[in-house]
Parts: sequence; C-alpha cells; structure tokens
Amino acid sequence: MVNEFDEKAKDWDSDPNKISRARTVAEAIRNRLALGPHMEALEYGCGTGLLSFALQPYLGHITLADSSEGMLAALRGKIASSGVGNMTPIKLDLSVDSMPGQGFDLTYTLMTLHHIPNTDGILREFHRLLRPGGHLCVADLDTEDGSFHGAGFTGHRGFDRGELGERARRAGLEEASFETVFRVAKEAGGSTRDYPVFLMVARKP
Ligand SMILES: C[S@@+](CC[C@H](N)C(=O)[O-])C[C@H]1O[C@@H](n2cnc3c(N)ncnc32)[C@H](O)[C@@H]1O
Repeated sequence: MVNEFDEKAKDWDSDPNKISRARTVAEAIRNRLALGPHMEALEYGCGTGLLSFALQPYLGHITLADSSEGMLAALRGKIASSGVGNMTPIKLDLSVDSMPGQGFDLTYTLMTLHHIPNTDGILREFHRLLRPGGHLCVADLDTEDGSFHGAGFTGHRGFDRGELGERARRAGLEEASFETVFRVAKEAGGSTRDYPVFLMVARKP
C-alpha cells in the first residue's frame, strides 16, 4: 500500500529546511552525547536518512528503519552512491512488527514520533531495544494548534515536554531533559509561523 511518505520521498531532499533541520539536530545530539566508533545506533522513521548521514562519521553502525518503501528506496540509492559502509536500511513499523532485542547504544528519531498514534507503546519498544546505559534522542514538535499539518491530520499536535518526559519515565527511561534545537518556518493560514522543535535525551538505566 502506497502511503503519503512514499509520494513525498523523491522530493524530500530538495527542501533545504529539512537538510538544515537534520544537520542542526545532529549537531545537538553530538553536543549532548559522546559518540564513538564502538556505538551501534538505530534511527527510527529515518526517511531518506538525512540525520543519519550527518551522524554516521561519528558512530560504528546505524540501522535505519522506516515504514515507507518510497523513503527506503531513496535511502538505498543514497547509500549506494555515497559508498558509506556503516548504514543498513530496514522496513519496519514497530507498531505492528517486532524486532529482535539486539541492543542499541543509541536510538534517535526526528519528526516521526508525532506520526505514531501509540506514544507509550513506541517508547516501551525504544526502551526494550536499548542496552543498559544507552540513550534515546527524540526530536519533535512542541505542542501546536494543529496548523503544522492542517485539517485531516490524525497524528499528534506536537508534544508537551513535561508530559512526554513523564511518558519516557513510565517506559523505563530516566533523566529525560529537553532543549529547543530548531524552529521550522512554515506557511500556515496566510502567514509564516515558527514551530519549535525540541530534543529530548533520556537514558536506559
Ligand atoms: C516527517 S518524516 C521525517 C523523516 C526524517 N526523520 C527527516 O527528518 O527527514 C516521518 C518519517 O517517519 C516515517 N514513519 C511514519 N510512521 C512510521 C511508523 N509507524 N514506523 C516507522 N516509520 C514511520 C515516515 O515514513 C517518514 O519517513
């Protein structure tokens, strides 16, 4: 079944804002955590891999998961043409598929959590897939009024930081901290609006 992201995949990287968003979030993750070549990472909802391409020089291996075949096709093309050897794409929707608990040192996700109906369920999966001492980084929208996606969107209208931190804690993660790392400028209702993007970093004890 073709989904909205299959359609968007071929033009995804032609938007300079998406590229600068991914680079800025990568920088923020690197500022917060000591990355290294021993680390195994999972990017969930990777799209065309913009965030992971920015992080791959600083990590050992990255598994890039997405539920959109269109996004994964674009990503496979980019991996092949770049010659990068430490990125493995997989088709995965953790709301319905299971993944062996292989143990990641780092899981990160950018602008994907608000598309997933069951926030508690996905946080529990992220927790399960992390090794003890591993970190989860979630970059997503702060609470907004629904204008970011407009009418008909059925996902989350961003997240309240306190509530998301509490959900992370209930999923078994500790020390959730938040900072504003980016602002998406977008046309909404005839004017340009700024939508702040937070980075949450939490740790599996
Ligand atoms: C807004 S895009 C962000 C893509 C990328 N992280 C970026 O910032 O360029 C959301 C991505 O999440 C993926 N996605 C949505 N729901 C998903 C799910 N349940 N499981 C895995 N991926 C999902 C979509 O296919 C899409 O690639």
